[in-house]
Amino acid sequence: MAKEKTIFFCTNCGYESPKWLGKCPGCANWNTLVEEKFTKKSSKSTSWVKSARNASKPLKIKEINKDDTPRFSSGLGELDRVLGGGIVPGSVTLVAGEPGIGKSTLMLQLTLHLGKPSLYVTGEESAQQVRMRADRLSENLPDTVSILADTNLESISQHIENETPSLVILDSIQILQSVAIESAPGSVSQVRHCTAALIAIAKAKNVPVFLIGHITKEGSIAGPKVLEHMVDAVLQFEGDRHLSYRMLRTVKNRFGSTSELGIYEMRENGLREVTNPSEILITQREGDTSGVAIAASLEGNRTLLVEIQALVSSAAYGTPQRTPTGFDNRRLNMLLAVLEKRGGFRLGLQDVFLNIAGGIRVEDPAVDLAVCVATVSSLEEIAIPATSCFAAEVGLGGELRAVNRLENRISEAQKLGFKQIFCSKFGMRDADPGKYKIQVIPVGHINDVFGHLFG
Ligand code: TYD
Ligand code: MG
Repeated sequence: MAKEKTIFFCTNCGYESPKWLGKCPGCANWNTLVEEKFTKKSSKSTSWVKSARNASKPLKIKEINKDDTPRFSSGLGELDRVLGGGIVPGSVTLVAGEPGIGKSTLMLQLTLHLGKPSLYVTGEESAQQVRMRADRLSENLPDTVSILADTNLESISQHIENETPSLVILDSIQILQSVAIESAPGSVSQVRHCTAALIAIAKAKNVPVFLIGHITKEGSIAGPKVLEHMVDAVLQFEGDRHLSYRMLRTVKNRFGSTSELGIYEMRENGLREVTNPSEILITQREGDTSGVAIAASLEGNRTLLVEIQALVSSAAYGTPQRTPTGFDNRRLNMLLAVLEKRGGFRLGLQDVFLNIAGGIRVEDPAVDLAVCVATVSSLEEIAIPATSCFAAEVGLGGELRAVNRLENRISEAQKLGFKQIFCSKFGMRDADPGKYKIQVIPVGHINDVFGHLFG
Protein backbone atom coordinates (compact mmCIF):
# COMPACT_ATOMS: atom_id res chain seq x y z
CA MET A 1 0.00 0.00 0.00
CA ALA A 2 1.23 3.45 -0.79
CA LYS A 3 1.85 5.51 2.31
CA GLU A 4 1.52 9.26 2.23
CA LYS A 5 3.90 11.50 4.14
CA THR A 6 4.33 15.23 4.29
CA ILE A 7 7.89 16.48 4.22
CA PHE A 8 9.31 19.96 3.95
CA PHE A 9 12.11 20.39 1.46
CA CYS A 10 14.45 23.31 0.86
CA THR A 11 14.17 24.29 -2.81
CA ASN A 12 17.71 25.59 -2.72
CA CYS A 13 19.76 22.80 -1.17
CA GLY A 14 17.29 19.94 -0.76
CA TYR A 15 17.39 19.90 3.06
CA GLU A 16 14.60 17.71 4.48
CA SER A 17 12.63 18.53 7.57
CA PRO A 18 9.49 16.99 9.10
CA LYS A 19 8.21 20.49 10.02
CA TRP A 20 8.27 23.90 8.42
CA LEU A 21 11.17 26.19 9.27
CA GLY A 22 11.69 29.83 8.30
CA LYS A 23 15.40 29.48 7.83
CA CYS A 24 16.92 26.44 6.20
CA PRO A 25 19.53 24.84 8.49
CA GLY A 26 21.20 23.38 5.40
CA CYS A 27 21.99 26.50 3.40
CA ALA A 28 20.88 29.30 5.76
CA ASN A 29 18.46 30.77 3.23
CA TRP A 30 15.14 32.16 4.39
CA ASN A 31 11.75 31.03 3.18
CA THR A 32 12.97 28.27 0.92
CA LEU A 33 11.22 25.33 2.60
CA VAL A 34 8.13 24.06 0.78
CA GLU A 35 5.70 21.36 1.74
CA GLU A 36 5.59 18.24 -0.38
CA LYS A 37 3.29 15.26 -0.24
CA PHE A 38 5.48 12.30 -0.66
CA THR A 39 4.07 8.96 -1.71
CA LYS A 40 6.42 6.20 -2.53
CA LYS A 41 4.65 3.41 -4.38
CA SER A 42 5.95 -0.16 -3.93
CA SER A 43 9.37 0.14 -5.47
CA LYS A 44 9.77 -2.46 -8.17
CA SER A 45 13.50 -2.45 -8.69
CA THR A 46 14.11 -1.80 -12.36
CA SER A 47 16.23 -3.89 -14.63
CA TRP A 48 18.89 -1.27 -15.35
CA VAL A 49 19.53 -0.69 -11.64
CA LYS A 50 20.13 -4.40 -11.15
CA SER A 51 22.45 -4.71 -14.10
CA ALA A 52 24.42 -1.65 -12.98
CA ARG A 53 24.89 -3.23 -9.55
CA ASN A 54 26.13 -6.54 -10.86
CA ALA A 55 28.67 -4.95 -13.15
CA SER A 56 31.07 -3.61 -10.53
CA LYS A 57 34.03 -5.32 -8.92
CA PRO A 58 37.00 -3.92 -6.97
CA LEU A 59 40.32 -3.43 -8.76
CA LYS A 60 43.81 -2.75 -7.41
CA ILE A 61 44.52 0.96 -7.78
CA LYS A 62 47.77 0.33 -9.67
CA GLU A 63 46.01 -1.94 -12.13
CA ILE A 64 43.45 0.63 -13.14
CA ASN A 65 44.17 1.88 -16.60
CA LYS A 66 44.41 5.65 -16.53
CA ASP A 67 43.24 5.98 -20.10
CA ASP A 68 40.09 4.16 -19.20
CA THR A 69 38.03 7.32 -19.54
CA PRO A 70 37.36 7.33 -23.24
CA ARG A 71 36.02 10.63 -24.46
CA PHE A 72 34.50 11.75 -27.68
CA SER A 73 34.39 15.23 -29.07
CA SER A 74 31.13 17.14 -28.84
CA GLY A 75 31.92 18.87 -32.12
CA LEU A 76 31.92 22.19 -30.24
CA GLY A 77 35.42 23.27 -29.22
CA GLU A 78 34.47 25.45 -26.25
CA LEU A 79 32.15 22.81 -24.84
CA ASP A 80 34.90 20.17 -25.12
CA ARG A 81 37.18 22.53 -23.23
CA VAL A 82 34.83 23.07 -20.31
CA LEU A 83 34.10 19.36 -20.11
CA GLY A 84 37.83 18.72 -19.73
CA GLY A 85 38.48 17.42 -23.24
CA GLY A 86 35.24 15.92 -24.52
CA ILE A 87 32.17 13.97 -23.49
CA VAL A 88 32.67 10.96 -21.21
CA PRO A 89 30.29 8.08 -22.02
CA GLY A 90 27.98 7.32 -19.12
CA SER A 91 28.50 10.74 -17.53
CA VAL A 92 25.66 12.95 -16.39
CA THR A 93 26.12 16.68 -16.81
CA LEU A 94 23.84 19.38 -15.50
CA VAL A 95 23.65 22.54 -17.60
CA ALA A 96 22.26 25.23 -15.33
CA GLY A 97 21.28 28.79 -16.08
CA GLU A 98 18.55 31.38 -15.92
CA PRO A 99 15.63 31.13 -18.35
CA GLY A 100 16.37 32.65 -21.74
CA ILE A 101 20.14 32.49 -21.43
CA GLY A 102 20.50 29.93 -24.25
CA LYS A 103 20.66 26.48 -22.64
CA SER A 104 18.26 24.86 -25.11
CA THR A 105 20.06 26.51 -28.00
CA LEU A 106 23.46 25.26 -26.86
CA MET A 107 22.24 21.72 -26.32
CA LEU A 108 20.39 21.57 -29.62
CA GLN A 109 23.50 22.87 -31.35
CA LEU A 110 25.42 20.08 -29.65
CA THR A 111 23.16 17.40 -31.10
CA LEU A 112 23.36 18.99 -34.56
CA HIS A 113 27.18 19.00 -34.52
CA LEU A 114 27.76 15.68 -32.85
CA GLY A 115 27.51 13.42 -35.91
CA LYS A 116 26.26 10.52 -33.77
CA PRO A 117 22.72 9.40 -32.98
CA SER A 118 21.28 11.63 -30.30
CA LEU A 119 17.95 12.00 -28.56
CA TYR A 120 16.68 15.44 -27.56
CA VAL A 121 13.84 15.18 -25.07
CA THR A 122 11.83 18.36 -24.97
CA GLY A 123 9.33 18.86 -22.20
CA GLU A 124 9.01 22.61 -22.40
CA GLU A 125 8.68 23.21 -26.12
CA SER A 126 6.81 21.22 -28.71
CA ALA A 127 8.66 19.16 -31.31
CA GLN A 128 7.63 21.78 -33.92
CA GLN A 129 9.22 24.57 -31.92
CA VAL A 130 12.44 22.61 -31.63
CA ARG A 131 12.39 21.97 -35.39
CA MET A 132 11.96 25.71 -36.03
CA ARG A 133 14.87 26.50 -33.78
CA ALA A 134 16.99 23.81 -35.46
CA ASP A 135 16.26 25.40 -38.84
CA ARG A 136 17.78 28.64 -37.56
CA LEU A 137 20.84 26.85 -36.31
CA SER A 138 21.67 24.64 -39.25
CA GLU A 139 21.02 24.65 -42.98
CA ASN A 140 21.14 20.90 -43.46
CA LEU A 141 19.53 19.07 -40.62
CA PRO A 142 21.34 15.78 -39.95
CA ASP A 143 19.57 12.38 -39.82
CA THR A 144 21.15 11.60 -36.50
CA VAL A 145 18.97 13.78 -34.27
CA SER A 146 15.66 12.52 -32.86
CA ILE A 147 13.27 14.74 -30.93
CA LEU A 148 10.97 13.35 -28.28
CA ALA A 149 8.29 15.59 -26.82
CA ASP A 150 7.54 13.95 -23.50
CA THR A 151 7.72 14.63 -19.79
CA ASN A 152 7.09 11.19 -18.37
CA LEU A 153 10.22 9.63 -16.90
CA GLU A 154 9.14 6.04 -17.42
CA SER A 155 8.34 6.43 -21.10
CA ILE A 156 11.49 8.48 -21.73
CA SER A 157 13.56 5.76 -20.04
CA GLN A 158 11.91 3.19 -22.27
CA HIS A 159 12.87 5.16 -25.38
CA ILE A 160 16.47 5.44 -24.24
CA GLU A 161 16.53 1.68 -23.58
CA ASN A 162 15.11 0.90 -27.01
CA GLU A 163 17.00 3.36 -29.16
CA THR A 164 20.38 3.41 -27.40
CA PRO A 165 21.46 6.84 -28.68
CA SER A 166 25.05 8.07 -28.23
CA LEU A 167 23.83 11.16 -26.37
CA VAL A 168 20.66 12.19 -24.53
CA ILE A 169 19.55 15.73 -23.73
CA LEU A 170 16.74 16.40 -21.25
CA ASP A 171 15.16 19.80 -21.53
CA SER A 172 14.51 20.31 -18.66
CA ILE A 173 14.91 18.20 -15.52
CA GLN A 174 12.35 20.36 -13.71
CA ILE A 175 9.55 19.40 -16.04
CA LEU A 176 10.05 15.63 -15.81
CA GLN A 177 7.56 13.61 -13.87
CA SER A 178 7.71 10.08 -12.56
CA VAL A 179 4.57 8.12 -11.70
CA ALA A 180 6.40 6.73 -8.66
CA ILE A 181 6.35 10.13 -6.93
CA GLU A 182 3.18 12.01 -6.35
CA SER A 183 4.43 15.56 -5.94
CA ALA A 184 4.37 18.05 -8.78
CA PRO A 185 7.06 18.37 -11.49
CA GLY A 186 9.84 20.66 -10.36
CA SER A 187 9.45 19.69 -6.70
CA VAL A 188 12.51 18.52 -4.85
CA SER A 189 11.41 14.90 -4.59
CA GLN A 190 10.45 14.66 -8.30
CA VAL A 191 13.64 16.30 -9.49
CA ARG A 192 15.78 14.09 -7.28
CA HIS A 193 13.98 10.91 -8.18
CA CYS A 194 14.09 11.58 -11.93
CA THR A 195 17.77 12.51 -11.77
CA ALA A 196 18.65 9.36 -9.85
CA ALA A 197 16.78 7.23 -12.40
CA LEU A 198 18.50 8.95 -15.32
CA ILE A 199 21.92 8.54 -13.70
CA ALA A 200 21.21 4.84 -13.34
CA ILE A 201 20.30 4.56 -17.05
CA ALA A 202 23.34 6.60 -18.10
CA LYS A 203 25.70 4.35 -16.14
CA ALA A 204 24.03 1.11 -17.16
CA LYS A 205 23.84 1.95 -20.88
CA ASN A 206 27.06 3.96 -20.92
CA VAL A 207 25.29 6.84 -22.61
CA PRO A 208 26.15 10.43 -21.70
CA VAL A 209 23.18 12.48 -20.50
CA PHE A 210 22.90 16.28 -20.34
CA LEU A 211 20.23 17.63 -18.02
CA ILE A 212 19.08 21.20 -18.45
CA GLY A 213 18.19 22.87 -15.15
CA HIS A 214 16.69 26.30 -14.59
CA ILE A 215 17.85 28.66 -11.93
CA THR A 216 15.17 31.03 -10.78
CA LYS A 217 15.42 33.84 -8.33
CA GLU A 218 12.07 33.05 -6.69
CA GLY A 219 13.10 29.51 -5.82
CA SER A 220 9.61 28.18 -6.54
CA ILE A 221 11.09 25.21 -8.33
CA ALA A 222 13.89 23.02 -7.08
CA GLY A 223 17.16 24.66 -7.95
CA PRO A 224 20.11 22.90 -9.56
CA LYS A 225 21.86 23.02 -6.17
CA VAL A 226 19.68 20.12 -5.13
CA LEU A 227 21.27 18.00 -7.87
CA GLU A 228 24.84 19.20 -7.78
CA HIS A 229 26.17 16.36 -5.66
CA MET A 230 24.39 13.68 -7.71
CA VAL A 231 25.69 14.48 -11.17
CA ASP A 232 29.23 14.11 -12.56
CA ALA A 233 29.60 17.63 -13.86
CA VAL A 234 27.81 20.95 -13.51
CA LEU A 235 28.16 23.60 -16.18
CA GLN A 236 26.79 27.04 -15.51
CA PHE A 237 25.68 29.13 -18.43
CA GLU A 238 25.67 32.79 -17.52
CA GLY A 239 25.78 36.29 -18.88
CA ASP A 240 23.56 39.29 -19.25
CA ARG A 241 20.49 38.34 -21.24
CA HIS A 242 20.49 41.72 -22.94
CA LEU A 243 24.11 41.50 -24.05
CA SER A 244 25.28 38.96 -26.53
CA TYR A 245 28.18 37.34 -24.66
CA ARG A 246 27.64 34.18 -22.67
CA MET A 247 30.00 32.27 -20.46
CA LEU A 248 29.93 28.57 -19.82
CA ARG A 249 31.69 27.79 -16.56
CA THR A 250 32.57 24.47 -15.00
CA VAL A 251 31.26 24.45 -11.43
CA LYS A 252 31.95 20.79 -10.81
CA ASN A 253 33.67 18.17 -12.93
CA ARG A 254 34.58 14.65 -11.92
CA PHE A 255 36.53 14.25 -15.16
CA GLY A 256 38.47 17.48 -15.41
CA SER A 257 39.34 20.86 -14.00
CA THR A 258 36.66 23.04 -12.45
CA SER A 259 38.06 26.35 -13.48
CA GLU A 260 37.40 26.13 -17.19
CA LEU A 261 35.54 28.76 -19.11
CA GLY A 262 34.00 28.81 -22.56
CA ILE A 263 32.85 32.02 -24.20
CA TYR A 264 30.00 32.29 -26.66
CA GLU A 265 28.26 35.00 -28.55
CA MET A 266 24.51 34.74 -29.17
CA ARG A 267 23.83 35.47 -32.84
CA GLU A 268 20.82 35.36 -35.15
CA ASN A 269 21.70 31.79 -36.05
CA GLY A 270 22.70 30.43 -32.69
CA LEU A 271 25.70 30.52 -30.42
CA ARG A 272 29.07 31.23 -31.94
CA GLU A 273 32.28 30.31 -30.16
CA VAL A 274 34.54 33.18 -29.26
CA THR A 275 38.13 32.09 -29.62
CA ASN A 276 39.83 35.45 -29.12
CA PRO A 277 37.95 36.84 -26.11
CA SER A 278 40.50 39.48 -25.16
CA GLU A 279 40.13 41.25 -28.48
CA ILE A 280 36.39 41.68 -28.12
CA LEU A 281 36.36 42.49 -24.41
CA ILE A 282 38.54 45.54 -24.87
CA THR A 283 36.64 48.37 -26.48
CA GLN A 284 38.35 50.34 -29.15
CA ARG A 285 38.97 53.76 -27.68
CA GLU A 286 39.16 57.08 -29.41
CA GLY A 287 41.36 59.49 -27.54
CA ASP A 288 41.94 59.17 -23.83
CA THR A 289 39.17 58.38 -21.40
CA SER A 290 39.76 58.50 -17.69
CA GLY A 291 38.54 55.65 -15.52
CA VAL A 292 39.51 52.79 -17.84
CA ALA A 293 42.18 50.21 -17.04
CA ILE A 294 42.96 46.83 -18.57
CA ALA A 295 43.54 43.82 -16.32
CA ALA A 296 45.38 40.70 -17.41
CA SER A 297 43.17 38.17 -15.68
CA LEU A 298 43.06 34.42 -15.80
CA GLU A 299 39.89 32.42 -16.12
CA GLY A 300 40.52 28.72 -15.91
CA ASN A 301 43.48 27.96 -18.07
CA ARG A 302 43.02 30.93 -20.26
CA THR A 303 44.29 34.45 -20.00
CA LEU A 304 41.71 37.09 -20.59
CA LEU A 305 42.40 40.78 -20.90
CA VAL A 306 39.41 42.57 -19.47
CA GLU A 307 38.52 46.19 -19.42
CA ILE A 308 37.66 47.69 -16.04
CA GLN A 309 35.64 50.90 -16.16
CA ALA A 310 35.19 53.09 -13.11
CA LEU A 311 33.18 56.22 -12.62
CA VAL A 312 33.70 58.29 -9.50
CA SER A 313 31.44 61.26 -8.85
CA SER A 314 30.35 63.20 -5.78
CA ALA A 315 27.46 61.58 -3.99
CA ALA A 316 24.50 63.82 -4.61
CA TYR A 317 22.09 62.02 -2.30
CA GLY A 318 23.62 61.44 1.10
CA THR A 319 24.98 57.92 1.41
CA PRO A 320 27.49 57.23 -1.36
CA GLN A 321 26.69 54.35 -3.67
CA ARG A 322 29.12 51.59 -4.51
CA THR A 323 27.81 49.70 -7.47
CA PRO A 324 29.97 47.08 -9.14
CA THR A 325 28.76 45.10 -12.15
CA GLY A 326 30.60 41.85 -12.76
CA PHE A 327 32.77 42.32 -9.68
CA ASP A 328 32.32 41.41 -6.02
CA ASN A 329 30.80 44.21 -3.95
CA ARG A 330 32.72 43.45 -0.77
CA ARG A 331 35.99 43.31 -2.65
CA LEU A 332 35.26 46.71 -4.17
CA ASN A 333 34.56 48.19 -0.73
CA MET A 334 37.80 46.75 0.56
CA LEU A 335 39.82 48.21 -2.31
CA LEU A 336 38.19 51.61 -1.83
CA ALA A 337 39.14 51.50 1.86
CA VAL A 338 42.72 50.65 0.92
CA LEU A 339 42.82 53.58 -1.52
CA GLU A 340 41.48 55.91 1.14
CA LYS A 341 43.74 54.75 3.96
CA ARG A 342 46.97 53.82 2.16
CA GLY A 343 46.78 56.05 -0.87
CA GLY A 344 45.18 59.06 0.77
CA PHE A 345 42.43 59.40 -1.85
CA ARG A 346 39.21 60.95 -0.55
CA LEU A 347 36.58 58.48 -1.72
CA GLY A 348 34.36 58.54 1.36
CA LEU A 349 31.89 61.03 -0.12
CA GLN A 350 32.01 59.73 -3.68
CA ASP A 351 29.71 57.44 -5.62
CA VAL A 352 31.77 54.71 -7.25
CA PHE A 353 30.43 52.73 -10.19
CA LEU A 354 32.48 49.87 -11.51
CA ASN A 355 31.82 47.90 -14.64
CA ILE A 356 33.54 44.98 -16.31
CA ALA A 357 33.10 45.56 -20.04
CA GLY A 358 31.34 42.89 -22.11
CA GLY A 359 28.97 41.86 -19.31
CA ILE A 360 31.32 39.25 -17.95
CA ARG A 361 32.06 38.49 -14.32
CA VAL A 362 35.58 38.19 -12.97
CA GLU A 363 36.72 36.47 -9.80
CA ASP A 364 40.47 36.54 -10.32
CA PRO A 365 42.10 38.66 -7.56
CA ALA A 366 44.70 39.81 -10.10
CA VAL A 367 42.22 42.41 -11.37
CA ASP A 368 42.50 44.31 -8.06
CA LEU A 369 45.23 46.60 -9.28
CA ALA A 370 43.33 47.54 -12.44
CA VAL A 371 40.24 48.29 -10.29
CA CYS A 372 42.30 50.63 -8.06
CA VAL A 373 43.97 52.31 -11.01
CA ALA A 374 40.68 52.82 -12.89
CA THR A 375 39.08 54.31 -9.78
CA VAL A 376 41.91 56.76 -9.15
CA SER A 377 42.06 57.61 -12.84
CA SER A 378 38.39 58.58 -12.76
CA LEU A 379 38.73 60.47 -9.48
CA GLU A 380 41.71 62.48 -10.70
CA GLU A 381 40.41 62.65 -14.26
CA ILE A 382 43.72 61.54 -15.68
CA ALA A 383 43.56 58.91 -18.42
CA ILE A 384 45.74 55.82 -18.30
CA PRO A 385 47.76 55.11 -21.44
CA ALA A 386 45.84 52.63 -23.60
CA THR A 387 49.04 50.62 -23.96
CA SER A 388 49.33 49.77 -20.23
CA CYS A 389 47.84 46.82 -18.44
CA PHE A 390 47.87 45.47 -14.89
CA ALA A 391 48.07 42.15 -13.06
CA ALA A 392 48.40 42.15 -9.26
CA GLU A 393 46.36 41.48 -6.17
CA VAL A 394 46.14 44.33 -3.66
CA GLY A 395 46.57 43.59 0.05
CA LEU A 396 45.10 45.52 2.95
CA GLY A 397 48.34 47.45 3.41
CA GLY A 398 48.24 48.61 -0.19
CA GLU A 399 51.01 46.17 -1.03
CA LEU A 400 50.91 44.36 -4.37
CA ARG A 401 50.77 40.61 -4.07
CA ALA A 402 51.96 37.99 -6.46
CA VAL A 403 49.47 36.32 -8.79
CA ASN A 404 49.64 32.87 -10.31
CA ARG A 405 50.85 32.15 -13.85
CA LEU A 406 52.28 35.63 -14.36
CA GLU A 407 54.20 34.53 -17.45
CA ASN A 408 51.00 33.59 -19.27
CA ARG A 409 49.53 36.97 -18.49
CA ILE A 410 52.60 38.80 -19.70
CA SER A 411 52.69 36.81 -22.94
CA GLU A 412 49.02 37.44 -23.64
CA ALA A 413 49.43 41.19 -23.03
CA GLN A 414 52.43 41.22 -25.35
CA LYS A 415 50.52 39.30 -28.01
CA LEU A 416 47.75 41.88 -27.97
CA GLY A 417 50.18 44.74 -28.45
CA PHE A 418 50.39 46.24 -24.97
CA LYS A 419 53.58 48.19 -24.31
CA GLN A 420 53.81 47.83 -20.52
CA ILE A 421 52.44 45.62 -17.79
CA PHE A 422 52.52 46.44 -14.07
CA CYS A 423 52.85 43.50 -11.71
CA SER A 424 53.96 42.72 -8.18
CA LYS A 425 57.70 42.71 -7.63
CA PHE A 426 57.17 39.81 -5.23
CA GLY A 427 55.88 37.59 -7.99
CA MET A 428 58.86 37.89 -10.31
CA ARG A 429 60.61 34.75 -9.02
CA ASP A 430 60.79 32.88 -12.29
CA ALA A 431 59.58 35.52 -14.70
CA ASP A 432 62.51 37.31 -16.27
CA PRO A 433 61.40 40.82 -17.28
CA GLY A 434 64.26 41.02 -19.78
CA LYS A 435 63.02 38.30 -22.06
CA TYR A 436 59.84 40.04 -23.19
CA LYS A 437 59.34 42.73 -25.77
CA ILE A 438 56.70 44.28 -23.54
CA GLN A 439 58.05 46.39 -20.68
CA VAL A 440 57.45 44.53 -17.41
CA ILE A 441 57.28 46.94 -14.46
CA PRO A 442 57.62 45.22 -11.07
CA VAL A 443 56.16 47.32 -8.24
CA GLY A 444 55.71 46.81 -4.51
CA HIS A 445 52.92 49.18 -3.46
CA ILE A 446 49.90 50.82 -5.10
CA ASN A 447 51.44 54.23 -4.47
CA ASP A 448 54.44 53.29 -6.63
CA VAL A 449 52.05 52.49 -9.48
CA PHE A 450 50.31 55.87 -9.09
CA GLY A 451 53.74 57.53 -9.03
CA HIS A 452 54.54 55.91 -12.40
CA LEU A 453 51.19 56.75 -13.97
CA PHE A 454 50.19 60.09 -12.56
CA GLY A 455 53.61 61.50 -11.65
P1 TYD B 1 17.01 29.51 -25.19
O1 TYD B 1 17.99 28.52 -25.68
O2 TYD B 1 15.57 29.24 -25.44
O3 TYD B 1 17.20 29.76 -23.64
P2 TYD B 1 16.92 28.78 -22.39
O4 TYD B 1 16.73 27.41 -22.90
O5 TYD B 1 18.16 28.93 -21.53
O6 TYD B 1 15.73 29.31 -21.69
O7 TYD B 1 17.47 30.90 -25.84
C1 TYD B 1 16.79 32.03 -25.61
C2 TYD B 1 17.23 33.27 -26.32
O8 TYD B 1 18.17 33.13 -27.33
C3 TYD B 1 15.99 33.85 -26.94
O9 TYD B 1 15.79 35.08 -26.28
C4 TYD B 1 16.30 34.03 -28.37
C5 TYD B 1 17.77 33.92 -28.46
N1 TYD B 1 18.24 33.27 -29.70
C6 TYD B 1 19.03 34.00 -30.59
O10 TYD B 1 19.35 35.16 -30.39
N2 TYD B 1 19.49 33.38 -31.73
C7 TYD B 1 19.18 32.09 -32.01
O11 TYD B 1 19.62 31.56 -33.05
C8 TYD B 1 18.36 31.36 -31.10
C9 TYD B 1 17.98 29.95 -31.37
C10 TYD B 1 17.91 31.99 -29.95
MG1 MG C 1 14.95 26.27 -22.89
